Amino acid sequence: AHITFIEANGQSTTADLPDGWSLMQGATANGVEGILGECGGSLACATCHCYVDELLAGVLPPPSQSELDMLDNVAAERRPNSRLSCQIKASAALDGGVVHLPECQE
Ligand code: FES
Repeated sequence: AHITFIEANGQSTTADLPDGWSLMQGATANGVEGILGECGGSLACATCHCYVDELLAGVLPPPSQSELDMLDNVAAERRPNSRLSCQIKASAALDGGVVHLPECQE
């Protein structure tokens, strides 16, 4: 799926992520600096925080309780569309989705 990552400074990166990759993996593999993913995707760091657009919000399963709990620990402002990008798996349904990245991750 083609996903566009927009950094807090406006810099945009669009990457074609293989199905099953997390958005965190896709961002770090494509040099997107606004996602750190320090724990490698095990819901232990909250440095993969992102804001999803309406397309993604409409097709993604809701966050698990573990994700919601870890979202309490994000460094930047938490918003209704805050998600942890390591918990979002790429698939065709996400094609064209846009994620905005927060100003800080830690
Ligand atoms: Fe650590 Fe997502 S990479 S919680």
